[in-house]
Amino acid sequence: MTQLASTREELAKLLAPARRDGAVVGFVPTMGALHEGHASLMRVARERVGGGPVVVSIFVNPLQFGAGEDLDRYPRTLEADLEVCEREGVDVVFAPSVDEVYPGGVSTGSTSEDVTVAPGPLAEVLEGKTRPGHFGGVLTVVAKLFGLVRPDVAVFGEKDYQQLALIRRMSSDLCLGVDVVGAPTQREPDGLALSSRNRYLTPDQRAEATTLSQALYAAQREAEHGVEAALQAARAELRRGKDVDLDYLVVTDPALGDLPANPEPGTDARILVAARVGTTRLIDNMSLTIGAPR
Ligand code: PAF
Repeated sequence: MTQLASTREELAKLLAPARRDGAVVGFVPTMGALHEGHASLMRVARERVGGGPVVVSIFVNPLQFGAGEDLDRYPRTLEADLEVCEREGVDVVFAPSVDEVYPGGVSTGSTSEDVTVAPGPLAEVLEGKTRPGHFGGVLTVVAKLFGLVRPDVAVFGEKDYQQLALIRRMSSDLCLGVDVVGAPTQREPDGLALSSRNRYLTPDQRAEATTLSQALYAAQREAEHGVEAALQAARAELRRGKDVDLDYLVVTDPALGDLPANPEPGTDARILVAARVGTTRLIDNMSLTIGAPR
């Protein structure tokens, strides 16, 4: 049975037996509004920890939302989320208040007296360009949650690929000792990546939103002819979406660095896209193999 903790003390109490027994602790941080994508992360965590506890946090983190973003309207569905956790055999849900996570208040900017995590240059590109401060907010809350849960393994979706890369870097660069595992993106039958933000889409926008994944699939098919061919195929698909306002479409190496100018046949790469469909910003990404059939 899933147990619910809303304070640091309750969490510590629920995890005390596992700590005493030296059990492997698995962790899936979320902002709630749980869907099949989150459920798949819980299953990956369960596989990793065996009989050890799987902990899920549900916390809409104000620090990672910029002015004018969807903090207020972000869906909060705790009852339904607990049902998902129960179904997936999660042991502990940690659903703290904002005060519990930020007892000193949520302050941003250079005048803050709080210690926060500086995410480095990888946070300035792609999502970071349009969402200044976003990844600092993500890494700060994940570091706090790692400190509270003290997991051995933490599972994040590949859907937020830049976030996953940055959390990996944080765990390794700050020697946090957490094994950060990426889990594949879950998709609707028509290819749309599952996301809590999909619920903002009108039926027409929902239909147009598939353009993103269709563009990435087209790039995968053309990647054997090189990076430019892959990008062209993706752009052609994206142009079909009338209400799709492209932010970026890029091909990088798997760690989000630059690819060599003339990649060897069979080089692994990543293609990432972000676009606004109506007023909703969506992101997606897929792996590519450059210069060789997949
Ligand atoms: O991916 C998310 O849901 C959030 O960014 C995370 C990792 C839970 C931090 O708030």
